[in-house]
Amino acid sequence: MSRLSVGVVGATGLVGRELLFFLEKRKFPIYRLDCFSSGKSNKGVSFQGKNLPVKKFNFNEAKKNQIVFFVSSDEVSTRWAKKLAAEGVWVIDDSSAFRSDSAVPLVIPEVNKEEIKPSVRLISGPNCTMTGLGVAGYSLHKKIGVEEIRLASYQAVSGAGRSALEDFFSEVKRDIKNFSLKEGRVPILKMGHPRHLPRPISANVFPQVGPFDSRGSSAEENKVASELRKVWKAPNLKMSVTAVRVPTLRGHCLSAWLTLKKPISLKAAAKLISISTVVEGAHSYPTPRAVAGKEEVFVSRIRRGCSPREIVLWIAMDNLIKGAALNSVQIAEEILRRGLI
Ligand SMILES: NC(=O)c1ccc[n+]([C@@H]2O[C@H](COP(=O)([O-])OP(=O)(O)OC[C@H]3O[C@@H](n4cnc5c(N)ncnc54)[C@H](OP(=O)(O)O)[C@@H]3O)[C@@H](O)[C@H]2O)c1
Repeated sequence: MSRLSVGVVGATGLVGRELLFFLEKRKFPIYRLDCFSSGKSNKGVSFQGKNLPVKKFNFNEAKKNQIVFFVSSDEVSTRWAKKLAAEGVWVIDDSSAFRSDSAVPLVIPEVNKEEIKPSVRLISGPNCTMTGLGVAGYSLHKKIGVEEIRLASYQAVSGAGRSALEDFFSEVKRDIKNFSLKEGRVPILKMGHPRHLPRPISANVFPQVGPFDSRGSSAEENKVASELRKVWKAPNLKMSVTAVRVPTLRGHCLSAWLTLKKPISLKAAAKLISISTVVEGAHSYPTPRAVAGKEEVFVSRIRRGCSPREIVLWIAMDNLIKGAALNSVQIAEEILRRGLI
């Protein structure tokens, strides 16, 4: 297999570093790796045992590559990704800039890799919260039909990028001094003013991931619903989502209530869900710490809901891996496997 020249825009970020790790781990055939960042600091990245320099993004440099991964921000992708694809470069974008663009495929390879077409060089990877449900529920949707989904997410701080994680670390360092039962009373912590998140996240949870719209839904809640409809090709799927940020480092969890078009046994449901990893046994379930660093989507606590057609699931996966970096590498592998490059 011929080796490729590959670019990574946002190589110094949380997803960027995981992307480099998986390109190396999965032996993606690379002869030149071009790493870009904002250029505001002088950071390098490590790849295949070497320290690589990272440059400020430069379009003319980026277009020399055959594949460029965008793991930076909506603004950077909006400005450059389509232009780069128009130059014939394969562009795999992890931002939300083009996910709802009908001309841009939104791809989870286990679900809809046929959406990758030689004529469309820009491909979006989905929202990290949706990916777990997109994979876990796909066979139920395809074989039985899913009519309606209610979803609650428990999202790790790393989902909001490096600056949110830095907020979290400094809050924890500040709060830990108060973690004691003075005179037997549970401490009442001050709210404080985080720089990058809407509320403090240390010893807290809040039901806001992204800005709210005029109907009171957060951007994340809207993304999960619209992206799932696109990836599953289910425009009429009814969805109700509450997205919650929780004080974990990495690993998003979901409680999902799926109303199917007809009743099936729990055993049959578990069999269909097994395109993800089913954790069996009533007392076994994945947690953010358990799935950190893992490639799979894990599903457990498969049980009957409040009607014979409702199935309830607990889903967990690493938001930085299957929710972002690994999914992008799998898209690139599919492009290669099909000889499109
Ligand atoms: N975090 C997740 O779980 C997750 C999941 C799915 C998708 N995503 C998406 O993946 C992307 C990266 O997320 P992240 O969490 O890794 O963010 P992050 O940790 O904040 O990293 C952002 C990266 O973008 C770079 N950057 C910023 N401005 C730039 C510019 N003008 N030109 C070139 N590079 C620039 C940063 O470089 P510096 O080091 O110079 O600042 C850094 O490398 C986002 O689009 C996000 O929506 C994230």
